Amino acid sequence: MSDFTAPQPTLQRGTFHLALWGCQMNVYDASRLRALMAREGYVERPTPEGVDAVLLVTCAVREKAEDKVFNQIAAWRHQGLIGPRTVIALGGCVGAELGAAATSLDRSVGVVFGPRSAHRVPALIEQFRATGRTVTDLGDGALEKFPCLPLHAPRAGSAFVTIMEGCSNHCSYCIVPSTRGEEESRPAQGILAECRALIEAGAVELNLLGQNANSYRGQGPDGRPLPLSGLLREVAALPGLQRLRFTTSNPMDFGDDLVAAIGDLEVVADAVHVPVQSGSDRILALMSRPYTHAQYLDLTRKLEAARPGILISSDFIVGFPGETEDDFQETLRLVDEVGFDLSFCFAYSVRPGTVAATLPGQVPHEVAMDRLYRLQERLEQGARAHGLAMVGTRARALVEGVSRKDSRELRGRTSHNRIAVFEGDPRLVGTMADIEITGVAAHTLKARIP
Ligand code: SAH
Ligand code: SF4
Ligand code: F3S
Repeated sequence: MSDFTAPQPTLQRGTFHLALWGCQMNVYDASRLRALMAREGYVERPTPEGVDAVLLVTCAVREKAEDKVFNQIAAWRHQGLIGPRTVIALGGCVGAELGAAATSLDRSVGVVFGPRSAHRVPALIEQFRATGRTVTDLGDGALEKFPCLPLHAPRAGSAFVTIMEGCSNHCSYCIVPSTRGEEESRPAQGILAECRALIEAGAVELNLLGQNANSYRGQGPDGRPLPLSGLLREVAALPGLQRLRFTTSNPMDFGDDLVAAIGDLEVVADAVHVPVQSGSDRILALMSRPYTHAQYLDLTRKLEAARPGILISSDFIVGFPGETEDDFQETLRLVDEVGFDLSFCFAYSVRPGTVAATLPGQVPHEVAMDRLYRLQERLEQGARAHGLAMVGTRARALVEGVSRKDSRELRGRTSHNRIAVFEGDPRLVGTMADIEITGVAAHTLKARIP
């Protein structure tokens, strides 16, 4: 198992800047890639100005996310921050999606890597520097990188742990299966060793990551397949752990064993993210999401019964091809029935090579945007009601840092996955603080240490 105390590099290879987009799985990959670059003798810089290598860890889930990458490279070049000497290494999901084609889309790209080849980046940079020829390496096995990357240190008492890579579901709109590849779960032993090391290094909260973390089925300590419910029980038993999250969950693999584990394990947070995408059965079928409105609602009821007070958040897509106003009303109805907390909604974005890109009935942009605003408003109402209900209650917040708005205030995250700001000693950062909620300001809770 790799450790945090990366040996001091004897050779100073150069400087690098890392730019990051996308989901928590990219955040995890980027943190471990940073640790690797440090071990290989590269010093990180906060801006790309004059650095030897720029690493782009990118997202391809929606068209806009993808455009940002090339726009960013062009802007840096235009501002004179990067020049012909800078090695541009394009990685993450756009790297995996485009492969070698990325180097013809932008001729300044020298190295293309993907989520599976993050551990090879320093070697790829060296190869490009030595030969001057562009190099593309998207890796082989999905799990190969894990033992090769040095572990990152927890940040303010919290750390991500990726428990599986890829996705094999092929929802009709989604590019992730073709960027991160087929789903594979890490064996539990490696995950548990990583969790232990992170706790020893100061983590009190762990967040287990997967595109569908609840579909986890890795080799258990006894050699047999272990579902997420079993992995949660193993991780929850690690001494020193105070809070356990997992994200994200697909409604389709949310079995009663997992609901029961959430009910049993106090250390599991009072918030769960279960993206539903749509409340219309017809649209869910077109999306290839194998559950119905009624089944989703039933799951949320089970979760609330197993863990009273748990908050459920979700992702929604509006304007999916063929979505009618009646379909959209079904989504609004589900929002009212479930009572979601802070959630994400997106306008459908066409992804090349996906089944939905070929479906008839593409929804006009204005119609999709109108639905997006209406859904956001309805979700806001629900989230506001949850926030108001918290006023006057006590909570435990993991102190993440000093508030961005006011340096005298601390920022903490409650078990309900809500940000609270309160006055306190900055030395509390990275620890759990007992707080009392005193008010709500937009999405943030106001609080005090009683
Ligand atoms: N594996 C998770 C989702 C991961 S992608 C799940 O299946 O629940 C994160 C979110 O991006 C999705 O939940 C979806 O709401 C959104 N998304 C994915 N593809 C999209 C597309 N083509 N257009 C708009 N939103 C999309
Ligand atoms: Fe995409 Fe569906 Fe896989 Fe989620 S489950 S990553 S939406 S294909
Ligand atoms: Fe984006 Fe890749 Fe994550 S496409 S959402 S960074 S898995």
